[in-house]
Amino acid sequence: MSAPSLQPLSVIIDLETPFDRAAVDAIVDAAFGPGRFAKTAERLREGAEPLADCTFVAREAGKVVGTVRLWPVVIGETRIAFLGPIAVQGGRRREGLGAQLVERACAAAEAAGLPGVLLVGDTPYFGRFGFVKADVRLPGPVDPRRVLLKMFGDRPLLSGDVRRG
Ligand SMILES: CC(C)(COP(=O)(O)OP(=O)(O)OC[C@H]1O[C@@H](n2cnc3c(N)ncnc32)[C@H](O)[C@@H]1OP(=O)(O)O)[C@@H](O)C(=O)NCCC(=O)NCCS
Repeated sequence: MSAPSLQPLSVIIDLETPFDRAAVDAIVDAAFGPGRFAKTAERLREGAEPLADCTFVAREAGKVVGTVRLWPVVIGETRIAFLGPIAVQGGRRREGLGAQLVERACAAAEAAGLPGVLLVGDTPYFGRFGFVKADVRLPGPVDPRRVLLKMFGDRPLLSGDVRRG
């Protein structure tokens, strides 16, 4: 018999719609605070739109309880997805929703023909999904140990400058 999923049966992972934006912003604001707009990662997002087919919410009884967004960026000359922010509502963490969101977003990026996913985050969390330290340059200061890359299949790690896609 297989191990039971941690994800509550009442929660679905669903594509984000324009109607979810206010709820998503509220979860991200609560998780990161207003300082998030000063981050280097934001330089890659400002003025861009998330990839609509790779951007998900965790939804329970119509209410958004988690979010993950992917954005188009370029490493060198190669288009790739940039993940973030990811956040799960306080009080609903450690139920596996974060893992479901990461895995769904990565699967969608691969299905969309992108070669991998880049992010700025903690290796102790994202390492479990196959993310490893990346040798790339972001458009601003960032702890290099937190710049992580997951390539799909047997593609080699990309390196070079990262810019908005
Ligand atoms: C990170 C986050 C999205 C994970 O969501 P989640 O639904 O709790 O994730 P999961 O249930 O899949 O995994 C929970 C496990 O990851 C661990 N974890 C969470 N964040 C972690 C981190 N930054 N580093 C290491 N481990 C982490 C938890 O301690 C928990 O461990 P356990 O399984 O041993 O109990 C959520 O904690 C969150 O919203 N945090 C605030 C925003 C944030 O930090 N985003 C990520 C930026 S790096």
